[in-house]
Amino acid sequence: MPERKFSKQILCIGAGYVGGPTMAVIAAKCPQYKVTIVDINADKIGQWQSEKLPIYEPGLLEVVKQARGRNLFFSTEIEKNIEEADIIFVSVNTPTKTFGEGAGKSADLQYWEKTARTILRAAKSDKIIVEKSTLPVRTASAMERIVNSKENGIHFEVVSNPEFLAEGTAVADLEKPDRVLIGSRETESGRRARQEIVDIYANWVPRERIITSNIWSSELSKLVANAFLAQRISSINSISALCEKTEADVSEVAYAIGMDSRIGSKFLQASVGFGGSCFKKDILNLVYIAESYGLQEVADYWQNVIKINDYQENRFVRKMISVMFNTIAGKRIALFGFAFKADTGDTREAPAITVTRKLVDERARVIITDPQAIPNAKKDLQDILDQVEFEPDPYQAAQGTHAIAVMTEWKLYKTLDYRKIYAGMEKPAFVFDGRNILPHDELYQIGFNVYPIGKPSQSHI
Ligand SMILES: NC(=O)c1ccc[n+]([C@@H]2O[C@H](COP(=O)([O-])OP(=O)(O)OC[C@H]3O[C@@H](n4cnc5c(N)ncnc54)[C@H](O)[C@@H]3O)[C@@H](O)[C@H]2O)c1
Repeated sequence: MPERKFSKQILCIGAGYVGGPTMAVIAAKCPQYKVTIVDINADKIGQWQSEKLPIYEPGLLEVVKQARGRNLFFSTEIEKNIEEADIIFVSVNTPTKTFGEGAGKSADLQYWEKTARTILRAAKSDKIIVEKSTLPVRTASAMERIVNSKENGIHFEVVSNPEFLAEGTAVADLEKPDRVLIGSRETESGRRARQEIVDIYANWVPRERIITSNIWSSELSKLVANAFLAQRISSINSISALCEKTEADVSEVAYAIGMDSRIGSKFLQASVGFGGSCFKKDILNLVYIAESYGLQEVADYWQNVIKINDYQENRFVRKMISVMFNTIAGKRIALFGFAFKADTGDTREAPAITVTRKLVDERARVIITDPQAIPNAKKDLQDILDQVEFEPDPYQAAQGTHAIAVMTEWKLYKTLDYRKIYAGMEKPAFVFDGRNILPHDELYQIGFNVYPIGKPSQSHI
């Protein structure tokens, strides 16, 4: 039996932004385990087996190639692989529900529940089920009820191991995590299962960085971590609006407060707003959970983090319109970047989506450039493709435009030849720096009218 050469058989259900990189790193670090990733999406599985992975992450292809075919496998045969696995990570998507009770707030657990039922149907021996997806607190009890509903003598132990990686730095985050969190029931079998998961990570993560907790704390910690991260962005963004009114500079304010070790300097970069598949969804979920326990003040507090983010996106577009003489109808505007952050092609909840739609509503012609995200941008804007253009080359994208708006902090935008860009633009030429990454003084010297976030503008008009 070839399988015997591996000491553990690990399966991951869901080959997305989390399942793919997480399992690739486990396989690369632990050649003694067989790691298989399955998905219902056969195209995606095909891409994981190719040179062009379905997601872009720096360093990911190298990690995948190190283990692929050795102890890392991709497959669409879900049930067969469930049968063979000792440990099953579930990393399916848990988007915000769009229908029925809790629509627009609570997590849509249909993919999650389907997975639980598939595991129940296919398993013929005891399994550890690991919640890798981000889930509402107390989901494990529903999972346990489903998987242990058949009286077939098979024991399923559910543990929680939320993923804290950030897109764009997924491989580095997985190789050197700040912490790994593993929660379980405080029963003997719960603690045994938890130890099995600890043992996996202990192959490369220092033991003091692997923390264990009860299962509910673990589930809740993931939602709270994202809520706190997003809250810092909304906090500094709210102050950026005040800076623009008072000639204070938000970078100077952020630097000054960040030097206080109780506050810390990270995640204090003002911008057009946060995006990504998780922050909004997880806060909405937290809000829904708080409401469902009757904690309205708690719900309202966190809801405001999203409210400020929406405000910041809207404020950005309003500013563009007002400084461009209150009309942008018929004007060409280049968006530099579409991904929700640099070093990823992911555009889920990207501020660029809202900004594009609002500019198009004002009858502007939007030209989108991005080194990785154009395919996703085309999907996001499917219904308005006749009103937008896509151009991978930023120089071409800016040609003949009235304004450039920076939406993503790609390094490449910092070092373009802005003299050349300026020469090809309509005048007066505007730059709206939604990420505060461009050399503003230099742009102003060239002739641009420069509008950063939370800093005094520099205008020739
Ligand atoms: N993206 C992130 O940065 C990030 C970070 C931490 C945690 N998370 C959480 O991890 C989870 C997964 O997120 P993601 O970004 O990887 O999502 P994703 O959409 O990229 O991937 C999920 C995958 O699951 C597959 N899937 C759905 N139902 C299935 C089923 N029944 N059987 C097999 N496969 C199925 C989908 O086809 C998809 O490929 C979510 O709960 C998310 O909140 C995401």
